[in-house]
Amino acid sequence: MENRDNLPIGLSYDDVLLVPQYSDIPSRKLTTIKADFSKRIALNVPIVSANMDTVTESKMAIAMAHAGGIGVIHRFLTIDEEAAAVKKVKRAQNIVIEDPVTIDEGATLGEALEVMRANGITGILVCDSKKNIQGILTSRDVRFKKDKNIKIRTLMTPRASLVVAQKGISPERALALLDANKIEKLPLIDKRGHLAGLITATDFKKMQEYGNAAKDQDGKLLVAAAVGVKDGEERAKALVEAGVDALVIDIAHGHHALCAALTRTFKKRFSRIDIVAGNIATPEAANDLIKAGADALKVGIGPGAACSTRIVAGAGVPQFSAIQSIASIARKTKTPIIADGGVKNSGDVAKAIGAGANTVMIGNLFSGSYESPGEYYIEDGAAFKIFRGMASRDASFDRPGKESSADRTDRAPEGISFRVTYKGEVHKILDVLVDGLQSGMSYSGARTIAEFWEKAKFIRMTEGGLKESMPRNYQQ
Ligand code: XMP
Repeated sequence: MENRDNLPIGLSYDDVLLVPQYSDIPSRKLTTIKADFSKRIALNVPIVSANMDTVTESKMAIAMAHAGGIGVIHRFLTIDEEAAAVKKVKRAQNIVIEDPVTIDEGATLGEALEVMRANGITGILVCDSKKNIQGILTSRDVRFKKDKNIKIRTLMTPRASLVVAQKGISPERALALLDANKIEKLPLIDKRGHLAGLITATDFKKMQEYGNAAKDQDGKLLVAAAVGVKDGEERAKALVEAGVDALVIDIAHGHHALCAALTRTFKKRFSRIDIVAGNIATPEAANDLIKAGADALKVGIGPGAACSTRIVAGAGVPQFSAIQSIASIARKTKTPIIADGGVKNSGDVAKAIGAGANTVMIGNLFSGSYESPGEYYIEDGAAFKIFRGMASRDASFDRPGKESSADRTDRAPEGISFRVTYKGEVHKILDVLVDGLQSGMSYSGARTIAEFWEKAKFIRMTEGGLKESMPRNYQQ
């Protein structure tokens, strides 16, 4: 037990600064910010979008992975919806599409256009029930057609005019074929001549455009998804079947028997999937969850912008100290730390990682972006989106399968909701965070995150120090 007369001090990001260290790094651009999200998942950018319903669904997760980070799909969806969101991310970029969408040649143009719209594709393979390719219908075939009842067999480019390749073709050969034949889609066939995949020019374009993307070994974008305790096992099973790369156990108080038990169950049941456990704020919690088998720890009790846990429950640990206190334990077992919540600017990202985190999770800063769920609305002559804590009263009313109005969050909600200014595409926000992190690393003379952990030195500051840190005009 702590000595009651000598309570430890908990520091927040605003209480500390990185002390500049000798550096021989010519430019901050020369620092490497590759980091581990979890034991088996590496990112090119150490930034994670939060599992909140105003932050991460498929659109945000795709943007995060394209940028080199990862998104965690929130769990306040039905199981089917969350699994569909995971599938959407896994299908967003491919080398080979293994199960391309197909249609029967007896379908009408109207039906084909609807299938293409629903799947977000610009062309569709026409196949019989045995997967024999009969043709392809592309936007060029239908450009000037007005009659939606016309059968697609009369419009499609027939099999005889199609360029196809054998399954297993190398990406280089496939690209050469697309280029030489000036085509957008290359169907793949197996030895029996049946459809066995599809390679598209769009995927090659994406590979060039998003050279830093975070991908799995099949070239698909990485994605994580959250599960809670209530329907955790059933939800996890559906998410794993949908192709999720990591499961994030989302419990407000992760130093709980239920969190450790679920971690153990998932490790046994889904041995190929990384399990992230949390949220926690103490070394004791870290030890317990590491023992249970966690592949990463999510650290943060109450620092989030929409959190009122510390006010309502009086519980929490200031975030900088929480990360520092867990870092040495996590490092011994090579268990990555995700610093979750409270990041207000790029300087906080640098402080979180310098303190020992591998990655940072961000909610509020990403919530007003184009990719966050929901549309923006106009008020007071400006564009806004809504941001809300997942334990807020607003969020609790919208939950699928909410049991009763006596839900704990109805009476003493531990989160709030408010509007945030619409900011456009998230990559612009991400770029600023990345530049600031690289600058912080270079002030510490660190070229890699591992070096940053070793070299980072912090100084505590007074309120005066914080005031002095803020840009201001003395003449006012
Ligand atoms: P930021 O500061 O980036 O933090 O918005 C995001 C993190 O906040 C946590 N979160 C909550 N915590 N009550 C809480 O006490 C809530 O209603 C709530 N909603 C989100 C969560 O850890 C998230 O990743």
